[in-house]
Amino acid sequence: MYSSDPAAVGAATGSDRTTSKDRTERASSYRFPPVGETPLRPLPRFVADVGGRFDLAVKLEFLNPTGSVKDRAAVNIVRTAIAKGELGARRTLVDASSGNTGVAYAMLGARLGFPVELCLPQNAHPERVTRIRGFGATVIFTDPLEGTDGAQREARRRAAAEPDRYFYPDQYNNPANPEAHYRTTGPEIWRDAAGEITHFVAGVGTGGTISGTGRFLKERRVTIQVVGVEPSGPIHGLEGLKHLPTAIRPSTYDARFVDRTIRVETEDAVSTRERLFKREGLVVGNSAAAALFASLEIGREAAGAHIVAIAPDAGHVSPREEP
Ligand SMILES: Cc1ncc(COP(=O)(O)O)c(C=O)c1O
Repeated sequence: MYSSDPAAVGAATGSDRTTSKDRTERASSYRFPPVGETPLRPLPRFVADVGGRFDLAVKLEFLNPTGSVKDRAAVNIVRTAIAKGELGARRTLVDASSGNTGVAYAMLGARLGFPVELCLPQNAHPERVTRIRGFGATVIFTDPLEGTDGAQREARRRAAAEPDRYFYPDQYNNPANPEAHYRTTGPEIWRDAAGEITHFVAGVGTGGTISGTGRFLKERRVTIQVVGVEPSGPIHGLEGLKHLPTAIRPSTYDARFVDRTIRVETEDAVSTRERLFKREGLVVGNSAAAALFASLEIGREAAGAHIVAIAPDAGHVSPREEP
């Protein structure tokens, strides 16, 4: 039974009389959708096409409940906030997103009964905006030229102006974000690759995926190379990714667990995506395609490598239209 009462979150978590143990037990009784346990799919034809002498498998994160890897982070962030009593009755969750985390938060708000406001750059894909609104959440557009940095500034401004009204989880600086990947994405990859992994490749947005998964994998075998994928410059079409040298640096990105960064041009990701459609029958988004383009570069340098890459979402089948 899901709660349909907006006060229910607070009723279960907001009272000063409850102990933290009570809150944790009650929080765990909320019905979060099952996330993760996504398959690892080998890409033999994609590799054979380039004469590659390495294995490449991709983790299909678009099979999560709202269609992206960000369900993992959003569920852990919200679950942790409820357990700590931070998301009490009538508090509105406000955060910045490039789109996918926004959809995940909006879904959780609809399921658990708390209002959600998302700050999104105005050039976020209209399909993301439609889905967020479909879950009953509010979208606040920010300057497209400022990307998610501008959205972050707006979310922070709102939360600071009305601290009693808002709960600001700040996915770019919330340890529950990388922790989700340390606890789930990393162990799933290690188990499903049966330890046969030499390189882990993931796009960098908040850095939660690469830092949490990278940390887990390096604890298992320190020689595993963790490779971050970023856009080649600040203006790009790799939705969800950040060009860290010019962006506000998220504390969820932990450079201790990243061995190397490969920067990818949008055009290379787009052509890689088209090849995946045709050669593997696989629909992934541009950030996934960028990670797979980078994986080919790694494989060219390291014959015999066993590479695992992340496909954060399936992108958009239709071209972007003006909002
Ligand atoms: C499509 C897409 N790819 C990659 C990422 C990066 O993931 P992370 O924030 O864990 O670094 C995101 C994050 O929003 C995303 O939406």
